[in-house]
Amino acid sequence: MRRAGVLLAAVLVLTGCGAPSMPDATRAQEPATASASPSLATPTVAPSAAAPGPTTTAPSAPDPAAPPQPAAPSAPEPAAPPAASWDIDAASSLQVLVNKRRPLQPPEYQPALVAISSAQEGGETVRPEGDAALTAMSAQMRAEIGEGTFVFSSYRGYDRQAELYSGYVARYGQAEADTTSARPGHSEHQTGLAVDLSGTGGQCRLSTCFGDTAAGRWIAANAWQHGFVVRYPQGMEEVTGYEWEPWHVRYVGVEVSTAMHERRVATLEELFGTGPAPDY
Ligand code: DAL
Ligand code: ZN
Repeated sequence: MRRAGVLLAAVLVLTGCGAPSMPDATRAQEPATASASPSLATPTVAPSAAAPGPTTTAPSAPDPAAPPQPAAPSAPEPAAPPAASWDIDAASSLQVLVNKRRPLQPPEYQPALVAISSAQEGGETVRPEGDAALTAMSAQMRAEIGEGTFVFSSYRGYDRQAELYSGYVARYGQAEADTTSARPGHSEHQTGLAVDLSGTGGQCRLSTCFGDTAAGRWIAANAWQHGFVVRYPQGMEEVTGYEWEPWHVRYVGVEVSTAMHERRVATLEELFGTGPAPDY
């Protein structure tokens, strides 16, 4: 099992995608759920297709060792509704919401891209807005914890995503593949706004144990300052449709990431009020 896990990790590093069924050892050290959602955001954007229904919150277990809290409000009031200019439908929008229920339109959308300026393997590309934010985030991370960000997967076109997804289906079956790899036309990587990263130290690349490294913790706590969100948080599979991916961050711009941080909203589905997207 252990050897199989190592082999699987090696394959996944090569393919640059999610990792189905990581070995138990990688789960054992998972940190507490990032950005649980004690209060849901007021829907702020009217999706083009009606998507009613309650959103799902992350489980939030009380800490029995914690001292009693004073009666003072424990959560800030939600910020005023943000600009109505948020556009979750257009493929080129920084706020575009892509998930199992919301394919890119058109499915073969291709963004304008630039080479990633900060640490990376060859050939990684993103949209310019994401590149500038990545550079700034990597610099702050390096200044604070001694390692910057290392991007090992970024833009993937429709055909590349189809290739990856088919490989996962062939290897693990469709049900398992769907928990970790998006079908073509449904991947955030196709927007040019999502990257898979580790710290430059390379610890736990493409494994959930990344969430418990210094780099993973820093990203979970600070990426929002640069307009990024950890898109598939722990415990939110029923909302996002995917297992926890502490390495997958999505650029949404600081207005959206700050709104999520201030409102303690863990997912874009909750922020935008579209309802969960657990399946196709
Ligand atoms: N691993 C994410 C869900 C993707 O394939 O886009
Ligand atoms: Zn990813």
